[in-house]
Amino acid sequence: MVADIAKAPKPAPFQITDPERIPARRYYDEEFYQLENERLWPHAWQMACRVEQIPEVGDWIEYKILGKSVLVVRTKDGIKAFDNACRHRGVPIAQGTHGNCKREGFICPFHGWRWNTEGKNTFVYGKHMFSEQQLDQGDLALTEVRTELSMGCVFINFDKDAPPLRECLGPLAAGLDAYNADQMRAEWCFATVLPANWKIAMEAFMEGYHVMRTHPQLQQKVPILYNSMYGMDTGGIGLPINPNLSIRDNIVAQVEHMELLSSGMAGMCHAKDVAVARQTIDAELPEDPFQAIMQWFGIVNHCVTEAGRARGEPTPDLNKIAVETPVKAVEFIFPNYFLLPFLSSMAAYRIRPLGPESCVFELWSLTHFKEGEEPPVVMDPTYLPYDSTEFPQIPQQDYSNIPLQQIGLHADGFEFMRLSKDIEGLISNYQRIIDGYLAGVEPDKLCKGIQMLAGNFDGPIKDLGF
Ligand code: FES
Ligand SMILES: [Fe+2]
Repeated sequence: MVADIAKAPKPAPFQITDPERIPARRYYDEEFYQLENERLWPHAWQMACRVEQIPEVGDWIEYKILGKSVLVVRTKDGIKAFDNACRHRGVPIAQGTHGNCKREGFICPFHGWRWNTEGKNTFVYGKHMFSEQQLDQGDLALTEVRTELSMGCVFINFDKDAPPLRECLGPLAAGLDAYNADQMRAEWCFATVLPANWKIAMEAFMEGYHVMRTHPQLQQKVPILYNSMYGMDTGGIGLPINPNLSIRDNIVAQVEHMELLSSGMAGMCHAKDVAVARQTIDAELPEDPFQAIMQWFGIVNHCVTEAGRARGEPTPDLNKIAVETPVKAVEFIFPNYFLLPFLSSMAAYRIRPLGPESCVFELWSLTHFKEGEEPPVVMDPTYLPYDSTEFPQIPQQDYSNIPLQQIGLHADGFEFMRLSKDIEGLISNYQRIIDGYLAGVEPDKLCKGIQMLAGNFDGPIKDLGF
């Protein structure tokens, strides 16, 4: 009994006791941050790189998280990941961010020990000076980190016992497969370092309630859509049609909204799809305005599908997907990756902690290309200061709030965030999954909780079952 108590993990501080209130110190407390590092990150599936970044045998790329470095390598038997640490005295064996190790393998810069692409040790200088037991081949091989491929990315997990990624994703995995997410390619990748806790950055994308004030250009284009979701009592359903405008004017507003999303964040609504949508403005539609707009969305899906396929791209049947395996406007892959699919393309965001109050934020624009016409592979993101006006407009607007919020959280009188139970529930659900990791909840239950995050931003606080 005494021994059991001694073994029980220390309870995490600042636990959520009221799901509508998130304690502010979770976003800057050093001990809380350390507990995340010990109990969350080593057990979670993390997007490590894009598959296209390592196309040839021997290609490798580094993934860094919380002081750990992992090498993701294309071997002749598929993709593997290794700890970037020499088996002699621990020096990182790969230098730089990426390369090819087919010819020379990895050579430790300290005493020159070597490994091949498969992680097998191939050279120990002065072998005769070591005891035999220090040179066991199995023990000298680079230590492997689990990998799984999904949506065109390599995911890694440091925990050998964690449930498979696809189990954590649940039905979303099939939806993303149907979307041909694995065949998408990055057109570009921007990155920045934000002076904010990684969770603050994630949570800025978990509700659309901020659009009215933070992205006024979107609100102004289709006010009925946003006001009926957040401003008026219509049960949280965004009305796509403004009864005071003609059907055609409604559709023009929708297309212009798409244009703003497109210029504001590329892959989140790709310019090639907007061009197709523009051509459908004069499509013949029923007289009932609601039916008309719904039918128009179907026409856009159809035309975007056909146009993509005519260009030779692996565009999925968007109407079929909408019915059978819908993928929502935002899909969160716990803990730090999320997708914003729209028509044929998507934006993807990844956020990694650098410290309790600092994180690196990357964003990709992803779309399909005809085979042989893919753009050059993006190996390193383009880093910009977070207040750079070179960022697309939408992330620029989001980045303007995040560092300020981090400062505000420190106010003496600010103990907790108060959440809307109806629309900001995702933040609570997300944070309570983190509490689940910190408390050592069984992995299967955590997976079920993670699946409850799927299916859009906005939403109610849910009972996660733990
Ligand atoms: S530390 Fe790598 S060879 Fe010695
Ligand atoms: Fe935003």
